[in-house]
Amino acid sequence: MVSISDHGVQNILFGLTTQSFYTRGSLKVIERGVLMQVKNSRERYGVVSISLHWLVAVAVIGLFALGYWMVDLDYYHDWYKQAPDIHRAVGLLLFAVMVFRLVWRWMNKSPVPMPNHLKAEVIAAHVAHGLLYLLIYVAMISGYLISTADGSSISVFGWFDVPSATGRIKGMEDTAGDIHYWVTWSIIVLAGIHALGALKHHFLDKDDTLRRMLGTMGRKR
Ligand code: HEM
Repeated sequence: MVSISDHGVQNILFGLTTQSFYTRGSLKVIERGVLMQVKNSRERYGVVSISLHWLVAVAVIGLFALGYWMVDLDYYHDWYKQAPDIHRAVGLLLFAVMVFRLVWRWMNKSPVPMPNHLKAEVIAAHVAHGLLYLLIYVAMISGYLISTADGSSISVFGWFDVPSATGRIKGMEDTAGDIHYWVTWSIIVLAGIHALGALKHHFLDKDDTLRRMLGTMGRKR
């Protein structure tokens, strides 16, 4: 019988029933199933990092699309007020998620790079990941400063209000608006390059880079 700890698979959260794991007692059962670890290990991402990655990716792309669309709405459109309200509220909630993500990242070492990756690819990926974190923070902070430049607070779906940190500052709305515009475009371009890199590793190099961010690493291809 093979025990979980024999293979260093810690923090198992969900997946095949424990019964099928123990009765069949083979590592293959673990690897082909949907068992996932909570924390990252040296080989793979845990379920928390994976969920945070995809939640943030969907939120960032969704916020960009919503922002792009809402700036051209005219005053009489049904969504004229609602769309920016949603954009601001989701942006603030994303800030909380990103703070948790950063803390989680500090508490958890990222998996080591795939052995087949070139040194230049590893460095480029590190720089891109760091930049994505930084740009997302700048986008959220500049967005907050646009909305609070007149001293008003932001309502998060009516659940609670986040007050202005600066009070009324003349010209801040325009400066923060320019930063928000260029930074959000940079995020989309960089995330696009980043996604292409992941797809290149998946389809051309045929390695586990994407699979370990999908939580399907080790499953039968
Ligand atoms: C706005 C969209 C996205 C953002 C902001 C983003 C950001 C990040 C960041 C910061 C990391 C580093 C891991 C971490 O710190 O937790 C990462 C890893 C990763 N991302 Fe994304 N990502 C986005 C979209 C995508 C998409 C669309 C794909 C796939 C097509 C993808 C595939 C991956 C993979 C495979 C890794 C792991 C890389 C490795 O292990 O070296 N990402 N992403």
